[in-house]
Amino acid sequence: MLILSKTAGVFSKPARRKTYEFLRIFNFHSGKPFLHKLVLGIETSCDDTAAAVVDETGNVLGEAIHSQTEVHLKTGGIVPSVAQQLHRENIQRIVQEALSSSKVCPSELSAVATTIKPGLALSLGVGLSFSLHLVDQLKKPFIPIHHMEAHALTIRLLNKVDFPFLVLLISGGHCLLALVRGVSDFLLLGKSLDIAPGDMLDKVARRLSLIKHPECSTMSGGKAIEHLAKQGNKLHFDIKPPMQRAKNCDFSFSGLQHVVDRIITQKEKEEGIQKGEILASAAHIAAAVQHATACHIAKRTHRAILFCKQRRLLSPSNAVLVVSGGVASNLYIRKALEIVTNATECTLLCPPPRLCTDNGIMIA
Ligand code: KG4
Ligand code: ZN
Repeated sequence: MLILSKTAGVFSKPARRKTYEFLRIFNFHSGKPFLHKLVLGIETSCDDTAAAVVDETGNVLGEAIHSQTEVHLKTGGIVPSVAQQLHRENIQRIVQEALSSSKVCPSELSAVATTIKPGLALSLGVGLSFSLHLVDQLKKPFIPIHHMEAHALTIRLLNKVDFPFLVLLISGGHCLLALVRGVSDFLLLGKSLDIAPGDMLDKVARRLSLIKHPECSTMSGGKAIEHLAKQGNKLHFDIKPPMQRAKNCDFSFSGLQHVVDRIITQKEKEEGIQKGEILASAAHIAAAVQHATACHIAKRTHRAILFCKQRRLLSPSNAVLVVSGGVASNLYIRKALEIVTNATECTLLCPPPRLCTDNGIMIA
C-alpha cells in the first residue's frame, strides 16, 4: 500500500436530516432489475465534488461533477475552508445527479465507495460524512478508497492492462511513480520531495499573472503554461532540469519554481514593468519551464523503467507505463514520455483527460 501524507483527521458532524431529505427525493424506479452489482463512487479529496455509478463490469451508468477551479483561480490557490464549504453546498446535488442520470435508485446500489485519503482533511470529511450517513440509511456496505490507487487503476476500465504495470501520477497535488502489482499492491518507486508539478506550474502561472492574459484567463495554471509555451522559444532561457545526478526515481519542483521566480523578477526590471503586469517574454518563460518540467519527468520515469526491467519487475518485452493526473493532459510532457517509452520498448497508456483528472468514476 502507498504511504499516505495527508489524511482526513476531522470529520463534520452527522447531517442526518439532510440524508433523509436526500433519500425522499428518489421516488422513481427504473422498472428493470440490474444484472450487475452497482457501486456509487464519491470523490471530494481536493477541489472537485464528483460522483458516479459504475457496474461491476466497468460500465459507467451515470456521473456528475462540480469543479471549484474558477473560485480557487480567483483566490490564487485552494483555501481548504472554502473548498469544504463548496463541497458541502454541492455534494447532495452531485450525488443526486449521478444517480438520476444512471436511472438507479439508492436502494439498488450494492455499495458506496468514497475517497478517504489522501487529500485535504476538510474536503475529505465532507464526502466521508455524507457517505457514512447514506450507507447507514440504506444499510449498504461502505468501501473506503485510496485516491492514488483509484487514479492508478482507472486505466483498467478502458484497456486490458495486466499486472504488473508502471504508473506515473502527475497533478496539482500528486507526483509519484509506482509499480502496480495488484489491485491493492503498490511498490512506491519515487515521489516528489517537495511540491507536485501541477502546483509548480500553477505558481509560475500566478507569478506571470496569466489570469490577466486574454487567451488564458479561464485556464488552470498548467494549461495556461502549455498554451503560452506554443508561442515561445524553450531555449530562450537556460533552465536546467532538477536532480540530474540523483540516483533514484524521486522528483523535485520547488527549485525550478524559485529559478523561474528569479528570472521573472529580473525580466520585470529589464522590461521596466511592475509585478502583476504581463511580461513580453512570458511565452519564452512558459516554454522554458514546460521544457525543464518535461525533461525532469521523462528522465525520472526512464530510470524507473530501466530499474524495473533490470530487476524483472516488469516484463522485458511487454511493459506498460500508465500516465495519469491533470498534468498528464499536457501534450508536450506526453511527447517527452513517448520518446522514453519508444526507446525502452514500453507501451504508453493515458486515460482520456476527463478520467486523468479527479472524478467519481475512478472511485466507483
Ligand atoms: O488531477 P487534477 O485535476 O487535480 C489534482 O491536482 O488532483 O490536476 C490539476 C493540475 C493543476 O495543477 C493544473 O494546473 C494541472 O493539473 N494541469 C496541467 C494541464 N492541465 C491541467 N498541467 C500542465 N498542462 C496541462 N495541459
Ligand atoms: Zn487526484
